[in-house]
Formats: sequence, structure tokens, C-alpha cells
Amino acid sequence: MTKAGKLSSVTLKPGAVRRIAGRYPFGHTGDIQDADAGITPGDVVEVRTPDGPGIGRGYFNPQGATPLRMLTWGREDIDLKFYRARVRSALARREGRITGTDALRVLHAEADGMPGVVADRFGDVLSVQFRNAGVERHRDLIVRALREETGAASAFERSDTGERRREGLALRTGVLWGDVPERVTFFEDDLNLHFAPMDAQKTGFFLDQRDNRRLMRSLVQPGEGFLDVYSYTGGFSLHAARAGAKPVALDKDQVALGVLEREARENGVSVGVRWGDALETLTALEREKRVFGAAVLDPPTLAKRKDDVPRAKRIFTDGATRALRMLKPGGHLLISTCAHYIRVDDLLDAARVAAGEANCGAEVVAVTYQPADHPHLLSVPESLYLKSILLRKEA
Ligand SMILES: C[S@@+](CC[C@H](N)C(=O)[O-])C[C@H]1O[C@@H](n2cnc3c(N)ncnc32)[C@H](O)[C@@H]1O
Repeated sequence: MTKAGKLSSVTLKPGAVRRIAGRYPFGHTGDIQDADAGITPGDVVEVRTPDGPGIGRGYFNPQGATPLRMLTWGREDIDLKFYRARVRSALARREGRITGTDALRVLHAEADGMPGVVADRFGDVLSVQFRNAGVERHRDLIVRALREETGAASAFERSDTGERRREGLALRTGVLWGDVPERVTFFEDDLNLHFAPMDAQKTGFFLDQRDNRRLMRSLVQPGEGFLDVYSYTGGFSLHAARAGAKPVALDKDQVALGVLEREARENGVSVGVRWGDALETLTALEREKRVFGAAVLDPPTLAKRKDDVPRAKRIFTDGATRALRMLKPGGHLLISTCAHYIRVDDLLDAARVAAGEANCGAEVVAVTYQPADHPHLLSVPESLYLKSILLRKEA
């Protein structure tokens, strides 16, 4: 804001105008021609073309790796009314599209027009992340908008993501409003699930794998082994166990495996857990001559930059080779990536090499993407992040 109470201005370079005016929300350092003096991190600015006209408004952080994050291609004030309208339209977009659960992502950052805010709902509790300097400045307004529009009884904050450091912000966690329970409780189909707000990874639970969990559950056979690699709290395993399979869940997060064991007990199913590095544990299972009817490989974001992709592909190949060797003929393997930079073709390449190393054939029976509560906007390529391929090992 200038002394006269007007918004400060940021001018784009000519080469960036068409992209950003075309609803791409990010302006990188090389896209910015000029910025008014005195802008402080997170200020809302007027975004202009080099010949003057405004094309919209966004947050600006001169110190950030992505200094500009567009909020609107109009001229609205960025205030409580604006944030309430954004939350309302995010809720409307999801209406009737997520069924069989009381847990869903209600705000998916820039894909819901709120760059830097992620909010997941679990029953009556919201889990919220603020990731950049702009939303940090408007945190009180956004919290109020979320409270008023969602009607959630309580909310907690898990703003402890590395992205904040790159924005020059400290990490923060805590209660936002209401009485946050020690164990957050929700359901997915016929499973009652829980997590402890401050011990869990990210916002608590990987809601984005909901459809894939259901897909895998539909494919398992009672009595057969189910291999859940990078399991976290074992969402895939619990569904498979409900269908009568015998899951083995592998993760290096001991706390998550403890949660899984308790979930299994409370849901009246049985799941075996193996704590340690995934590839090492897969090698150990192979030595034990284990056979599985179906398997999932769902590693963390292995590629945060394009340069990481070749190394990530090798990890996928190593995991898939071991899983394919232990899969019965006709068994299914789901391979997922949550990294924007890893494309479906990269997963297919990695799987192709793995099938060669495992000396088996496989059919690609499905390619799946993130569910509707994690929108993928055409104008924001980065909003497509979760991609999975489902293989069937040839008999
Ligand atoms: C994307 S999450 C998995 C989510 C899970 N499939 C679900 O549906 O809830 C990735 C998991 O990989 C685990 N992980 C990361 N590196 C690992 C490694 N080298 N070995 C085993 N687990 C690892 C993390 O602890 C995390 O739980």
C-alpha cells in the first residue's frame, strides 16, 4: 500500500504478460520488470503490463522465490468478503462430488483461488496450512472466512511446511479455534480413522489417495497378501484388510505405523507392519519368499525439481522390480507419484524397466489422477500432481 492508500504496483516483463493474464497465478523473479519501492513481503499489489493497464491483483514478496501470486484477474478488494466468497465457491465446487466420507480437502491453494492456503476437513475439525507471506499477512481474515463459511467446530494449524522457510517465515502449529480433540476422528467408507493433530504428517491424512484406496480394495482377493509400500498410517492396508486380504505395511515413520496398528485393532482387522527403509524391507520380504495378490507403491515427493526426476525414476524402478517379483501372476500393482515434475510417462518408463528386471510382462490397466477435492485447473499445470498407473502382471 502506498502512503496515499493506493495499492502498490508491480509491472510484468512483456514476455510474462500473456501467461499471467491467461490465469497462470505465479510470477517468478524473471517475470517481474519493476516493483514500487516500499513493498513489504506479502503486500497485495496491482499487477500491470509494461504499457500501464492493470491485469489483476496478487500477493507480492520481493524476497520469495516466486514473488508474485495472483489472487484475482479483476479489481475486487482483497478483504474478508473476498476470502469468504472464495471459500464458498470452493465448497460449492465440491458439493455432491465427494461421497462415503466426512473428510475432504476444502481448499486446495491456487486451484481454489487462494494461493498458499490448504485446508482439510475431518468431521467437524479443520486442519489448515498457511504457506506464503501473503496469506500470513491475511491469516486472521482467512481464519475468520474459514470459520464462518465451513461452520467447523474447531481448527488447528500445521504451518510447518518447508515452503514457509523459502518465504522467510517461521514454522507455526497450534489451535486456530474451538476445542481440538487429541485424536481427530473421521470415516472413509466403513473404516473409522484417527490421527493426532500434532504428530501426523502434513495436514493429517492423505485424502488424495481416497479413490485409489477404493480401486485397490475392489481388486484384492480374500486371503491373499497385500503389499503397502510407503504406507503412512495404512489407508490402503485397512481397506484391503476389510476386503479380507492380509496386508503388510512398510514405512520409515514409526509413529504412523503405531497409529496403523491401533486403527487395525479398533476396526477389527489385521495388518502386519514393517518399520524401515522401503527398498531394504522389500529386499527382506523377497528373501522371505513372500507372495502378494496386489501391491501399492506410494512414495513421498521424490522430485521437488525437474533435475530430481532421473533419480526418482530409479527409485520407482527399484521398488517396482521388487514388488513385481513378489506379485502373483495376474496380480495388480499401483504406482503413484505426488510430484508435479514426474509425469505419467516417467512412471511408465520406470515400470517398463522394472518389468524387464523382474522378467515379467504387465498390462497397463488404468491411469488415475487426484480426486475432485484436489482440483486440477487447466491454467495451472502445477495443480496436477497426483498421477498413478495400475499394472496387471501377466500370467
Ligand atoms: C505419500 S506418503 C504415503 C501415503 C499413504 N500411502 C496413504 O495412503 O496414506 C509417503 C510415505 O513414505 C514414507 N517414506 C518416505 N521415505 C521412505 C523410505 N525411504 N522408506 C520407507 N518409507 C518412507 C513417509 O514416511 C510417508 O509415510
